[in-house]
Amino acid sequence: MEKEKDIFVVWEERYSVGIPSIDEQHKELLIITNKLYDACHEGEEAARAYFKEAIKSAVEYVQFHFTSEERLMERVNFPELATHKVQHSNFVKQVLEEVKNFEHGKSFVPNAFVRFLRDWVLTHIAMSDIKYAEYIKTLKKQGTLQHFF
Ligand SMILES: [Fe+2]
Repeated sequence: MEKEKDIFVVWEERYSVGIPSIDEQHKELLIITNKLYDACHEGEEAARAYFKEAIKSAVEYVQFHFTSEERLMERVNFPELATHKVQHSNFVKQVLEEVKNFEHGKSFVPNAFVRFLRDWVLTHIAMSDIKYAEYIKTLKKQGTLQHFF
């Protein structure tokens, strides 16, 4: 019997921030992470070829997602927007640095990169995204946000 394919990271309800459009984007980030993980096990050459394309679309998607979140935080005047933005841009910088290493054949370990991606995304959702989500929840309860949602 064929071995059941192991999935690297599975979306769980506890990752939900309660905003469907953001949850969808977070799910997509996990899908991208899983694809990169799968590519790590395709043999070195195939992994390299796949990574080249996959990493590019991962970076693009991450930037699109961060922009969506930042717009949302701006719209609701989230007080910790600046700190959150710094976290986003530091992450993008780190990823771009890794992409450069990959392109120049430097010390790039696909497996380590994929784990870093997963851990960062899940920690960021749990520690930081949850803050603006809670803030929005409170505004909704107060009835100040009807026109947004
Ligand atoms: Fe975020």
